[in-house]
Amino acid sequence: GIKKKEANVLVVGLDNSGKTTIINHFKSEEYKNHDIVPTIGFQVEKFKTKSLSFTAFDMSGQGRYRDLWQAYYRECHGVIFVIDSSDKLRIVVAKDELDALLKHPEVQRKRIPILFFANKMDLRDAVSSVKCSQLMELENIRDKAWHICASNAITGDGLDEGIQWLTDQLK
Ligand code: GTP
Ligand code: MG
Repeated sequence: GIKKKEANVLVVGLDNSGKTTIINHFKSEEYKNHDIVPTIGFQVEKFKTKSLSFTAFDMSGQGRYRDLWQAYYRECHGVIFVIDSSDKLRIVVAKDELDALLKHPEVQRKRIPILFFANKMDLRDAVSSVKCSQLMELENIRDKAWHICASNAITGDGLDEGIQWLTDQLK
C-alpha cells in the first residue's frame, strides 16, 4: 500500500495532566493500554490518523524528568501540550514550562505547530479552554500555529478535533 507521511510529535505537560491517556485514545484497540500509570522518563508510541503516521514521544511530566523534554525538540515536527484545566494552582507551573519550551533555541528556530489540550474538562473545578489560554498567555505565541481544544481523555471528547487540526498542520 501507499506509505503514509510520518510525523514525530512531542507530548508534554505537567505530571497527571493526561498525556498518556490521550495518546492511548489514538492507539488501535489491540495496542491500547488498560492500566495507565505515571510515565517514567518517556515512552515512544505509534498511532495513525487518516493521512499521517504519528510517532509520539510521551514524556513524563514529573519535575525530575522535565529536563528530558528538550532532548526531543530537534526531531519533533509538532508539539502536544496537555494542561490539567482543573489544576488551577499549577497552571502557573505549566505556563513556566511552556515559556521555557518556547524560548529554547531548538524550538525558536522552527515553526512547529503546537496543539494544546485543556484536559479534564469534565471535572467540576475545570476552567474553560478560553480561560486556560488566557492563563497560559497563548495569544503571545505569534510565530507558530497553535490551537487549543477542551478535552476529556477518559471519554475521548475533544481529542479527535485536536489531532485533526494537528494532522492538517503537518500533512
Ligand atoms: P505523567 O506520565 O506522570 O506525566 O502523567 P500523564 O500526563 O501521562 O497523565 P495520565 O495520562 O497518566 O493521567 C493521570 C490521571 O488523570 C489518570 O488517573 C487518568 O485516568 C486521569 N485523567 C486523564 N485525563 C482525564 C480527564 O480528561 N478527566 C478526568 N476526570 N481524568 C483524567
Ligand atoms: Mg504519562
